[in-house]
Amino acid sequence: MAQTEFQFMPMNKGPKDRSAKCTVRRSVHLAALVSALATTGVVVLAQSEPVDPRVEGLTFLGEPVLASQVMAGQQLYADNCASCHGASLEGQPDWRRRLDTGRMPAPPHDDSGHTWHHSDRMLFQITKGGVGAVVPGYESDMPAFGEDLTDAEIAAILVYIKSTWPERQREFQAEVSANDTGG
Ligand code: HEC
Repeated sequence: MAQTEFQFMPMNKGPKDRSAKCTVRRSVHLAALVSALATTGVVVLAQSEPVDPRVEGLTFLGEPVLASQVMAGQQLYADNCASCHGASLEGQPDWRRRLDTGRMPAPPHDDSGHTWHHSDRMLFQITKGGVGAVVPGYESDMPAFGEDLTDAEIAAILVYIKSTWPERQREFQAEVSANDTGG
């Protein structure tokens, strides 16, 4: 760097000289900063660019949840689930009472329902394969989304739903998920 400055100086006489020198110094500082960041490690660089932050205190199937997933899930929920489970996750009216068909209405996905009683794995299976996937032979109006949505889309919808729960429901469901060994 010192050599660069030495060669540079004689070519830049006159009023511009000062600012030109200043630019060189600045780039020296910048280089020093970059190498300092490089030695302190990736963590510093990652923190300086919080493009897609983790959602604090939320995981899905043991993996961290990103803000972008929750945002994608909110839209996917509106497009695929809200017609039955409600735009505000409130469920169908009188959702505890069996329909004339003998089937159950769509329950809420907010903390007034029982979605949060189920593990991540269970919620994923129900959404992908319908309730029959976890209770064989069970007749239900809940569609299987395995053909219309990718696994990542299903996961995004479920993390959106989870992100709306208050702390108590989140903690309860996290424990149920941790205890669900996949049997
Ligand atoms: C056509 C209506 C309909 C749509 C659309 C629908 N569901 Fe359902 N869902 C139901 C019904 C009805 C039940 C209750 C099933 C039963 O007990 O028979 C249910 C139950 C569930 C359950 C189990 C909840 C619990 O507490 O046991 C989950 C999870 C679920 N749905 C997720 C979803 C997701 C996610 C979507 C969107 C991708 C979705 N559902 C779209 C009708 C629907």
